Amino acid sequence: MEDYNILANKYAAWHQSVKGADPYKEELDFLTESANVILDVGCGAGEALAYLAPHSIFSVGTDISIEMMHIGKKIAVDNSIGNIAFVVADLDNQPFKKNTFDYIFSRYALHHSDLSISLPELERCLIPGGRLLVRDLVTNFPMFQRFGWWHALVVFFKIPKRIIKRGFKSLKLFLDLGLDPTWIQHQVENNLMSPRKFRQAYHNLLPGCWFSGKRRNVVHWVSPSSK
Ligand SMILES: C[S@@+](CC[C@H](N)C(=O)[O-])C[C@H]1O[C@@H](n2cnc3c(N)ncnc32)[C@H](O)[C@@H]1O
Repeated sequence: MEDYNILANKYAAWHQSVKGADPYKEELDFLTESANVILDVGCGAGEALAYLAPHSIFSVGTDISIEMMHIGKKIAVDNSIGNIAFVVADLDNQPFKKNTFDYIFSRYALHHSDLSISLPELERCLIPGGRLLVRDLVTNFPMFQRFGWWHALVVFFKIPKRIIKRGFKSLKLFLDLGLDPTWIQHQVENNLMSPRKFRQAYHNLLPGCWFSGKRRNVVHWVSPSSK
């Protein structure tokens, strides 16, 4: 994805600035003690992966953007995390054998894929009884998604909240990214679902999954113990 190669530094700087005190708690909580090998799909700069890696024997992040993963490698080196590997891969085609991972998670990436292809692919890579957590974007206004002005307007609406919650430094990073024409074009091309459609799609493709989060946009699923 060329957009993320162009925007890697801006995205990573903004993302760092909006991290709360315990940003990956839910991803960590769903990880069982016995998880040996973890996969983060659409890992970007791999911050969540770096956070979870100490709780695994080995962790792998895949992403289509080499620039994002360069930042991820630097984060791993800076934090002396040695058990992480980054692999270039498309969401729809993970280059791993069947039943490789105990735990797979993905944050804000699967909307770039056709779920009817990417979810079976993740299921294939997961061991029987393995766990999958997907966190993704949803929108209450899918009808406005294809208009650039809408995304710029949303950025302006969010300014007061950003200042109060994160301060002016984070606001600058937010505006640098949010009003970048490449980012706006990227948003226009995003294929986001309403919360209801999102839940329907995941229910159909991952029977037995359940949802959490304020917008019910975090999917939890345990792979059947025989497959
Ligand atoms: C919003 S970022 C999320 C990054 C990271 N998971 C996080 O939580 O910060 C979306 C990521 O999905 C990746 N991506 C987009 N399309 C992809 C594709 N077809 N295959 C693999 N990764 C893709 C982008 O390169 C980007 O790193």
